[in-house]
This record gives sequence, C-alpha cells and structure tokens, in this order.
Amino acid sequence: MSVYPIILSQTKFTHRDTLNYPFEERAMQFGDGVYEVVRIYNGNYYLINEHIDRLFRSAEAVKITLPFSKEELSNLLKNLLIKNSVTTDAKLYLQVSRGSAPRDHVFPIDTEANVYGYIQDQVRNVTGLQNGVKTITQRDIRWEYCSIKSLNLLPNVLAKQTASEHGAYEAILHKDGVVTECSSSNVYLVKDGMIHTYPTTKRILHGCVRMRIEKFVKDLDISFNEDGFSVEDIAIADEMFLTSSTSEVLPIVTVDDTEIGNGEPGPITRKLQSAYEKDANIIHNKLEQTT
Ligand code: PDD
Repeated sequence: MSVYPIILSQTKFTHRDTLNYPFEERAMQFGDGVYEVVRIYNGNYYLINEHIDRLFRSAEAVKITLPFSKEELSNLLKNLLIKNSVTTDAKLYLQVSRGSAPRDHVFPIDTEANVYGYIQDQVRNVTGLQNGVKTITQRDIRWEYCSIKSLNLLPNVLAKQTASEHGAYEAILHKDGVVTECSSSNVYLVKDGMIHTYPTTKRILHGCVRMRIEKFVKDLDISFNEDGFSVEDIAIADEMFLTSSTSEVLPIVTVDDTEIGNGEPGPITRKLQSAYEKDANIIHNKLEQTT
C-alpha cells in the first residue's frame, strides 16, 4: 500500500520525509491523542463531516485543543487530496496528539497539539465482501471510554493479533458474554429479519459507517435493535456482519469455527452492502451479487 508524498503537518503541507518529531512526544510516550481513518473512493472522501465531528468530540473529551475549526480542517483535507492528485480508492489517517514536551503525566502548559495526516491507497476487499470472513471471540479488556477514538489501542492490537494467529480477520469482543464490538469495527447479528447490536454508549465507538447503517435500515424498513446480543446468541444467528471505514459492510461467515447461518453472506447483509455502494458512489471494483 503506497503512501502519497504530500502530508498534512499542523496546518501546512510538506513532503512525508520531512516529518520529524522530538523524542519527547506525547503520542509516542503516552498514547496521548486521538485519530480518525476516513475512506476515499475515486479521490473523494466518504462521510468526511461525520469523521470531522467525531474528531472534535474525541479531542474535547480528552481536553486537547485543536488548532483549527471544523471548516478549516475540512478545507485542509480537501487540499491534501488535490496536492496529491488522488483519484483512486484510498484512506486518510489523521492523528492529533497533545504535543511535544518534557515527559510528565500532567498536561504541558501552552503546548500546541501535533497534527499530521496522510493518504494511503486502499483497494476494496472484494473477495472478503463477496464471500465473508472468519472471526474469533475475545474478552473485551478495554477501558471505559471506547466512544473516544483514542490512540491507546493496545487491547485492540492484541485482540486483532490473536485473530490473525487463528487465521481470522477480526476479533469479536465481549464483556461478560455480551458482545460490544470488534477490535477495529462495529458488529451486528441478524435473527428472524431483525438486526441486533450494542447500543452506542461509551463502551463502543459510534462508527461513521454504523451511522449510515442506521439510515439505510430506515430506508429499507429493516428492524434495527440496539439491545445487544450475547456470545451464546451467535450459535443461532441467521447472519452476522461488521462495519468500518476500511471494512465497509463485511459479512461474517464463521465465529470460533462455528458457521453462521448456512455459511454464506445473508440477504440483509447483501441489501446493506448494496445501499453502501450506492451511498458511497462506488464506481470501481463493485460487488457482483447485490440485491
Ligand atoms: N477503526 N470500532 C472500533 C474500535 C474502530 O476502531 C472502528 C474504526 C470502528 C468503526 O468506525 P468507522 O465506521 O467510523 O470506521 C468501530 C478504524 C477503521 C481504524 O482504527 O483503522
């Protein structure tokens, strides 16, 4: 995956090789910061306002002052696409830390936040979207404020690594048997035509793709229930899927070696994939079979 050469650094544009932080940087030393990942299709951001809003919510929740308004950031990100002449499917990684300062847990005074953003090619995972993916379950050992998109991702990294070691795409996380979300995506279970998922409390990240799913289900008249589901419910699921900016609407066909439904992506998942493709205005690498 290639990274485009021009990056956003603070509110300026520079070549990626010139980015140079002091070793006393709070993202590196404390994970003291927040981030966003935004999908790009054909050189256009998808759900950019939702991501910008969430970045501001996350920063406010951890008391980081951003050096721009929402509108200024929106313009900077548009220019980042233009400066790199992006026309493909890609993604933006945008990170904000509390800044550079001598190491001390207490916030530094008068220190500017460190901001950087870069764009990387990201081809659609057509095989996974078409056939579905394998997952495992893992205990959710994260902190209480998972609604903040914080840089502290160690539990997520460990869960995803365990999934990878089991030949699985994602780890489905549960707290005392109740499924919350995945290591880097939201997760849903379909039973008797109704979708069930964890409510958007501070225990999970309110995904920008999930926000669209909440709209699609209204348009498609599909029952959407924020009542959660348990690890035990998985055994009787008709369908399961997960969502994120990089994964889109991805069917889950196996959980801990148990097949979901008939082991193939189900009709509700297919309808939501189709709604997503339309909403994101996807032109290239479209899925073959959508209803
Ligand atoms: N992850 N839950 C968690 C824990 C996530 O990290 C993500 C996104 C989501 C889905 O959010 P969205 O629909 O806004 O992408 C849910 C990104 C892609 C990442 O960290 O790479």
